[in-house]
Amino acid sequence: RKILVLHGPNLNLLGSREPEHYGRDTLDSINQRLQQQARQASASLETFQSNSEAELINRIHQAGRDGVNFILINPAAFTHTSVALRDALAGVNIPFVEIHLSNVFARESFRHHSYFSDLAVGIISGLGAKGYELALEFALAQP
Ligand code: DQA
Repeated sequence: RKILVLHGPNLNLLGSREPEHYGRDTLDSINQRLQQQARQASASLETFQSNSEAELINRIHQAGRDGVNFILINPAAFTHTSVALRDALAGVNIPFVEIHLSNVFARESFRHHSYFSDLAVGIISGLGAKGYELALEFALAQP
């Protein structure tokens, strides 16, 4: 079982970035916990963060070639802007869960629309870093 975790723009700043919205965990510590969780389930997990839409799209295409079974993605601000990233996920046809640290529906109205949600298997929003762990638990339980 191969799982890919994608983190969109500005998530490299986690830990210090608007902690009232995104908590105090760094991206490294989140990724390390996910690695440990995957290891315990004997699954292979890769994590990738980019501030560039093109790099995220290319990583999704690579996942298609590599036979990745499941994607966890926090598209960050691209959630609300990127038809291209949406099309990349649709193009490789890999099931994915959309994750947001903050509850996007409790925030500005421009965060209420997502280009991903109707394609996602499910969405987790507002559970902080725990959301990634819950989504991974779900991905690991897929047949
Ligand atoms: C986010 C929510 C987005 O609206 C925002 O642009 C982010 C992070 C979240 O994890 O809560 O960068 O995806």
